[in-house]
Amino acid sequence: MDLSRYGPWAFIAGGSEGVGASFARSLAAGGINLVIAARKREAIQALAAELRQAFGVEVRELPINLCAVDMLRQVEVATRDIEIGMLICNAGAENSLSPFLDRKPGRAEMMIALNVTVPTQLAYHFGSGMRERRRGGIIIVGSNSCHAGAPRQVVYSAAKAYQFNFAEGLWAELRPHDVHVLGLILGLTNTPNLARTGFKFEMAAGLVMSEPDDVVRQGFEYLGREPIHCIGGWTERWRQLRGLPRGEAMAMVGHGVGTKT
Ligand SMILES: NC(=O)c1ccc[n+]([C@@H]2O[C@H](COP(=O)([O-])OP(=O)(O)OC[C@H]3O[C@@H](n4cnc5c(N)ncnc54)[C@H](OP(=O)(O)O)[C@@H]3O)[C@@H](O)[C@H]2O)c1
Repeated sequence: MDLSRYGPWAFIAGGSEGVGASFARSLAAGGINLVIAARKREAIQALAAELRQAFGVEVRELPINLCAVDMLRQVEVATRDIEIGMLICNAGAENSLSPFLDRKPGRAEMMIALNVTVPTQLAYHFGSGMRERRRGGIIIVGSNSCHAGAPRQVVYSAAKAYQFNFAEGLWAELRPHDVHVLGLILGLTNTPNLARTGFKFEMAAGLVMSEPDDVVRQGFEYLGREPIHCIGGWTERWRQLRGLPRGEAMAMVGHGVGTKT
């Protein structure tokens, strides 16, 4: 796969494991240098060492909480001397299934920061350079929880709905400037974070658990072609959901919501 139009550097928000680490490996294999941002310093260090060794690319490690108030300043300092041609906004999973009012204060704001504020600020920060250069890519990793309000994931599903429309609108605005945008909308995906949550899911008919490498492969396949790509058997389901009464749509989305073991 020729990824050169997305170089020379990519910035991955949430790149230490799972889908983010798969993106890092694919981009590095394509000769793209990386800035990997996530909280776990050791995980970033290990991945960075692996990628330098395997692919000879440069990797900058950025241990950061993306919800920090000075997030953008830290990102700016880490990247001011390099050209970011690809932005991957990956961090943002839901780790708890509990009612909105029973959550700790601040939890909702954190979810909004990670899924709404951070992708918006990063796309604004890096997008103008891409538009000027008339090349680049932005991938927003969303969730199929976005298609209808989801009980026990109230803020998550709302924030993911923002990402869906954000990616779609940005796709239309940047397309004439040859900058590719994709809302990559995941179903259940076998990430270390999902395993840590201990959620147990019953998969509805037609839905599958995806692997991070496959998600990334599909991401690059659809980037530049479509504004949105839903994964894990959700493309048809999503179209179906749009025509349903909201109660039925919510039940369909709720179908994938599991219980803690
Ligand atoms: N896994 C699924 O079944 C599933 C389903 C639908 C959608 N998705 C979407 O796929 C994306 C990835 O999900 P995931 O399961 O891999 O879990 P995740 O918790 O979003 O973790 C992904 C990456 O983000 C980093 N991260 C998380 N919170 C961060 C923070 N506050 N600051 C900096 N980095 C942070 C993590 O590393 P650190 O812990 O080191 O910070 C990790 O590298 C999310 O957007 C999620 O909504 C996942």
